[in-house]
Amino acid sequence: MLPLSHRDVGVRLITKRDAAPLEHLLLDNRSWLEQWEATHPGLLRPLVPGFSLKPAIKNLLHAHRQGTTLPLVITYRDHAVGQLTASGIQYGSLSSAQLGYWISENVAGRGITPVAVALASDYLMRSQGLHRIEICIRPENSASLRVVEKLGFRYEGRRPNYIHIDGRWRDHDSFALTAEDLPQGLLSRYLGATARREV
Ligand SMILES: CC(C)(COP(=O)(O)OP(=O)(O)OC[C@H]1O[C@@H](n2cnc3c(N)ncnc32)[C@H](O)[C@@H]1OP(=O)(O)O)[C@@H](O)C(=O)NCCC(=O)NCCS
Repeated sequence: MLPLSHRDVGVRLITKRDAAPLEHLLLDNRSWLEQWEATHPGLLRPLVPGFSLKPAIKNLLHAHRQGTTLPLVITYRDHAVGQLTASGIQYGSLSSAQLGYWISENVAGRGITPVAVALASDYLMRSQGLHRIEICIRPENSASLRVVEKLGFRYEGRRPNYIHIDGRWRDHDSFALTAEDLPQGLLSRYLGATARREV
Protein backbone atom coordinates (compact mmCIF):
# COMPACT_ATOMS: atom_id res chain seq x y z
CA MET A 1 0.00 0.00 0.00
CA LEU A 2 1.11 3.57 -0.64
CA PRO A 3 3.10 5.41 0.62
CA LEU A 4 6.15 3.16 0.30
CA SER A 5 9.70 3.76 1.44
CA HIS A 6 13.13 2.26 1.80
CA ARG A 7 15.50 4.11 4.11
CA ASP A 8 15.52 7.79 3.00
CA VAL A 9 13.63 7.24 -0.28
CA GLY A 10 9.85 7.20 -0.59
CA VAL A 11 7.09 7.28 -3.17
CA ARG A 12 3.60 8.55 -2.47
CA LEU A 13 0.57 9.63 -4.46
CA ILE A 14 0.79 13.23 -5.70
CA THR A 15 -1.62 15.75 -4.14
CA LYS A 16 -2.69 19.30 -5.03
CA ARG A 17 -0.44 20.51 -2.19
CA ASP A 18 2.58 19.30 -4.17
CA ALA A 19 1.95 21.93 -6.86
CA ALA A 20 4.00 24.76 -5.31
CA PRO A 21 7.10 22.74 -4.25
CA LEU A 22 7.18 20.87 -7.58
CA GLU A 23 6.77 24.15 -9.53
CA HIS A 24 9.86 25.49 -7.71
CA LEU A 25 11.83 22.33 -8.45
CA LEU A 26 10.83 22.32 -12.12
CA LEU A 27 11.76 25.99 -12.58
CA ASP A 28 15.05 25.63 -10.65
CA ASN A 29 16.00 22.62 -12.80
CA ARG A 30 15.21 23.93 -16.29
CA SER A 31 18.60 23.20 -17.87
CA TRP A 32 18.83 19.84 -16.06
CA LEU A 33 15.38 18.59 -17.15
CA GLU A 34 14.48 20.35 -20.40
CA GLN A 35 16.32 18.06 -22.81
CA TRP A 36 14.55 14.99 -21.39
CA GLU A 37 11.01 16.40 -20.92
CA ALA A 38 8.00 15.31 -22.93
CA THR A 39 6.56 18.12 -25.04
CA HIS A 40 3.40 18.48 -27.10
CA PRO A 41 3.81 18.89 -30.85
CA GLY A 42 2.71 22.37 -31.88
CA LEU A 43 2.48 23.79 -28.35
CA LEU A 44 4.77 26.34 -26.76
CA ARG A 45 6.76 25.28 -23.71
CA PRO A 46 4.52 25.77 -20.66
CA LEU A 47 7.19 26.04 -17.93
CA VAL A 48 7.78 29.77 -17.61
CA PRO A 49 7.89 31.64 -14.27
CA GLY A 50 4.33 31.95 -12.97
CA PHE A 51 3.13 28.68 -14.52
CA SER A 52 0.86 26.51 -12.40
CA LEU A 53 1.16 22.76 -12.01
CA LYS A 54 -2.34 22.52 -10.54
CA PRO A 55 -4.14 21.71 -13.83
CA ALA A 56 -1.57 19.00 -14.63
CA ILE A 57 -1.94 17.49 -11.15
CA LYS A 58 -5.74 17.59 -11.52
CA ASN A 59 -5.43 15.71 -14.82
CA LEU A 60 -3.05 13.17 -13.26
CA LEU A 61 -5.43 12.54 -10.36
CA HIS A 62 -8.35 12.19 -12.77
CA ALA A 63 -6.37 9.63 -14.79
CA HIS A 64 -5.51 7.88 -11.52
CA ARG A 65 -9.20 7.59 -10.64
CA GLN A 66 -9.79 6.12 -14.13
CA GLY A 67 -7.08 3.54 -13.37
CA THR A 68 -4.79 4.50 -16.25
CA THR A 69 -2.10 6.40 -14.34
CA LEU A 70 -0.24 6.15 -11.03
CA PRO A 71 1.17 9.65 -10.36
CA LEU A 72 3.79 9.54 -7.60
CA VAL A 73 6.05 12.05 -5.90
CA ILE A 74 9.57 10.85 -5.09
CA THR A 75 10.66 11.90 -1.60
CA TYR A 76 14.10 11.99 -0.03
CA ARG A 77 14.31 12.49 3.72
CA ASP A 78 10.61 13.41 3.56
CA HIS A 79 11.07 16.22 1.03
CA ALA A 80 9.62 16.09 -2.48
CA VAL A 81 12.57 15.78 -4.90
CA GLY A 82 10.91 14.60 -8.12
CA GLN A 83 8.16 12.64 -9.80
CA LEU A 84 7.63 9.07 -10.94
CA THR A 85 4.57 8.43 -13.08
CA ALA A 86 3.26 5.11 -14.29
CA SER A 87 1.15 5.83 -17.36
CA GLY A 88 -0.68 3.80 -19.96
CA ILE A 89 -1.73 1.32 -17.30
CA GLN A 90 -3.63 -1.54 -18.88
CA TYR A 91 -5.08 -4.63 -17.25
CA GLY A 92 -6.27 -7.90 -18.79
CA SER A 93 -4.13 -9.65 -21.35
CA LEU A 94 -1.51 -6.88 -21.42
CA SER A 95 -1.40 -5.88 -17.70
CA SER A 96 1.38 -3.39 -18.29
CA ALA A 97 2.52 0.14 -17.43
CA GLN A 98 5.19 2.55 -18.63
CA LEU A 99 7.30 4.49 -16.10
CA GLY A 100 8.69 8.01 -16.43
CA TYR A 101 10.72 9.89 -13.81
CA TRP A 102 12.82 12.91 -12.91
CA ILE A 103 14.59 14.19 -9.83
CA SER A 104 16.18 17.49 -8.86
CA GLU A 105 19.84 17.87 -9.87
CA ASN A 106 20.92 18.66 -6.30
CA VAL A 107 20.11 15.10 -5.17
CA ALA A 108 21.24 13.25 -8.33
CA GLY A 109 23.73 10.43 -8.04
CA ARG A 110 22.56 9.09 -4.67
CA GLY A 111 20.70 6.10 -6.05
CA ILE A 112 17.30 7.65 -5.28
CA THR A 113 15.63 6.88 -8.62
CA PRO A 114 16.51 3.16 -8.77
CA VAL A 115 14.96 2.68 -5.32
CA ALA A 116 11.88 4.71 -6.29
CA VAL A 117 11.46 2.68 -9.52
CA ALA A 118 11.84 -0.56 -7.56
CA LEU A 119 9.27 0.51 -4.95
CA ALA A 120 6.78 1.59 -7.63
CA SER A 121 7.33 -1.52 -9.78
CA ASP A 122 6.82 -3.86 -6.81
CA TYR A 123 3.63 -1.98 -5.90
CA LEU A 124 2.29 -2.17 -9.47
CA MET A 125 3.07 -5.85 -9.83
CA ARG A 126 2.23 -7.13 -6.36
CA SER A 127 -0.63 -4.87 -5.25
CA GLN A 128 -2.11 -3.95 -8.62
CA GLY A 129 -1.52 -7.23 -10.41
CA LEU A 130 0.44 -5.87 -13.36
CA HIS A 131 2.64 -8.27 -15.30
CA ARG A 132 5.01 -5.97 -17.20
CA ILE A 133 6.82 -2.70 -16.44
CA GLU A 134 8.36 -0.76 -19.30
CA ILE A 135 10.75 2.21 -19.37
CA CYS A 136 11.63 4.02 -22.61
CA ILE A 137 14.79 6.15 -22.69
CA ARG A 138 16.52 8.34 -25.25
CA PRO A 139 19.79 6.66 -26.28
CA GLU A 140 21.64 9.87 -25.31
CA ASN A 141 20.36 9.78 -21.71
CA SER A 142 23.26 7.99 -20.05
CA ALA A 143 22.07 8.70 -16.48
CA SER A 144 18.66 7.13 -17.10
CA LEU A 145 20.23 4.22 -18.99
CA ARG A 146 22.29 3.53 -15.84
CA VAL A 147 19.06 3.40 -13.79
CA VAL A 148 17.60 0.56 -15.89
CA GLU A 149 20.99 -1.15 -16.12
CA LYS A 150 21.39 -1.16 -12.34
CA LEU A 151 17.86 -2.52 -11.96
CA GLY A 152 18.42 -5.26 -14.55
CA PHE A 153 15.71 -4.21 -17.02
CA ARG A 154 15.89 -6.14 -20.30
CA TYR A 155 16.62 -4.24 -23.51
CA GLU A 156 13.80 -4.81 -26.00
CA GLY A 157 14.76 -2.64 -28.92
CA ARG A 158 14.85 0.80 -30.53
CA ARG A 159 11.61 2.72 -31.28
CA PRO A 160 12.36 5.34 -33.92
CA ASN A 161 10.77 8.79 -33.42
CA TYR A 162 8.74 7.37 -30.53
CA ILE A 163 8.07 10.24 -28.07
CA HIS A 164 7.99 14.03 -28.53
CA ILE A 165 10.78 15.25 -26.22
CA ASP A 166 12.30 18.73 -25.99
CA GLY A 167 10.45 19.90 -29.11
CA ARG A 168 11.11 16.98 -31.49
CA TRP A 169 10.19 13.35 -32.08
CA ARG A 170 13.00 11.31 -30.55
CA ASP A 171 14.20 7.73 -30.84
CA HIS A 172 13.84 5.72 -27.64
CA ASP A 173 15.26 2.46 -26.38
CA SER A 174 12.70 0.24 -24.68
CA PHE A 175 13.46 -1.74 -21.51
CA ALA A 176 11.11 -4.03 -19.59
CA LEU A 177 10.70 -6.51 -16.77
CA THR A 178 7.93 -9.06 -16.35
CA ALA A 179 6.72 -10.74 -13.18
CA GLU A 180 8.59 -13.94 -14.10
CA ASP A 181 11.87 -11.99 -13.77
CA LEU A 182 11.10 -10.98 -10.19
CA PRO A 183 10.12 -13.86 -7.92
CA GLN A 184 11.47 -11.91 -4.90
CA GLY A 185 10.42 -8.45 -6.13
CA LEU A 186 12.55 -5.76 -7.75
CA LEU A 187 13.70 -3.89 -4.62
CA SER A 188 14.96 -7.04 -2.99
CA ARG A 189 16.74 -8.12 -6.20
CA TYR A 190 18.31 -4.66 -6.61
CA LEU A 191 19.51 -4.44 -3.02
CA GLY A 192 20.92 -7.94 -3.24
CA ALA A 193 22.74 -7.21 -6.49
CA THR A 194 24.34 -3.89 -5.64
CA ALA A 195 27.04 -2.99 -3.18
CA ARG A 196 25.60 0.56 -2.93
CA ARG A 197 23.76 1.25 0.28
CA GLU A 198 23.65 5.06 0.40
CA VAL A 199 19.86 5.35 0.60
C1 LIG B 1 17.85 9.95 -14.83
C2 LIG B 1 17.71 10.38 -13.37
C3 LIG B 1 16.23 10.27 -12.99
C4 LIG B 1 18.57 9.43 -12.51
O1 LIG B 1 18.28 9.68 -11.14
P1 LIG B 1 19.34 9.44 -9.95
O2 LIG B 1 18.53 9.36 -8.71
O3 LIG B 1 20.42 10.41 -10.02
O4 LIG B 1 19.93 7.98 -10.32
P2 LIG B 1 21.30 7.36 -9.80
O5 LIG B 1 21.73 7.97 -8.52
O6 LIG B 1 21.13 5.89 -9.88
O7 LIG B 1 22.36 7.81 -10.92
C5 LIG B 1 22.28 7.27 -12.22
C6 LIG B 1 23.47 7.74 -13.04
O8 LIG B 1 23.40 9.17 -13.21
C7 LIG B 1 24.74 9.67 -13.38
N1 LIG B 1 24.90 10.78 -12.46
C8 LIG B 1 25.12 10.75 -11.13
N2 LIG B 1 25.19 11.99 -10.63
C9 LIG B 1 25.02 12.82 -11.65
C10 LIG B 1 25.02 14.22 -11.77
N3 LIG B 1 25.16 15.02 -10.71
N4 LIG B 1 24.80 14.75 -12.98
C11 LIG B 1 24.64 13.96 -14.04
N5 LIG B 1 24.63 12.60 -14.01
C12 LIG B 1 24.83 12.06 -12.83
C13 LIG B 1 25.70 8.54 -13.10
O9 LIG B 1 26.10 8.01 -14.35
C14 LIG B 1 24.81 7.55 -12.37
O10 LIG B 1 25.24 6.23 -12.56
P3 LIG B 1 26.22 5.54 -11.45
O11 LIG B 1 25.37 5.31 -10.24
O12 LIG B 1 26.69 4.30 -12.10
O13 LIG B 1 27.33 6.52 -11.15
C15 LIG B 1 18.19 11.84 -13.15
O14 LIG B 1 19.49 11.95 -13.69
C16 LIG B 1 17.28 12.87 -13.80
O15 LIG B 1 16.27 13.27 -13.25
N6 LIG B 1 17.65 13.32 -15.03
C17 LIG B 1 16.88 14.32 -15.75
C18 LIG B 1 15.49 13.81 -16.17
C19 LIG B 1 15.56 12.48 -16.89
O16 LIG B 1 16.50 12.19 -17.61
N7 LIG B 1 14.54 11.63 -16.68
C20 LIG B 1 14.48 10.31 -17.28
C21 LIG B 1 13.92 10.35 -18.65
S1 LIG B 1 13.90 8.70 -19.35
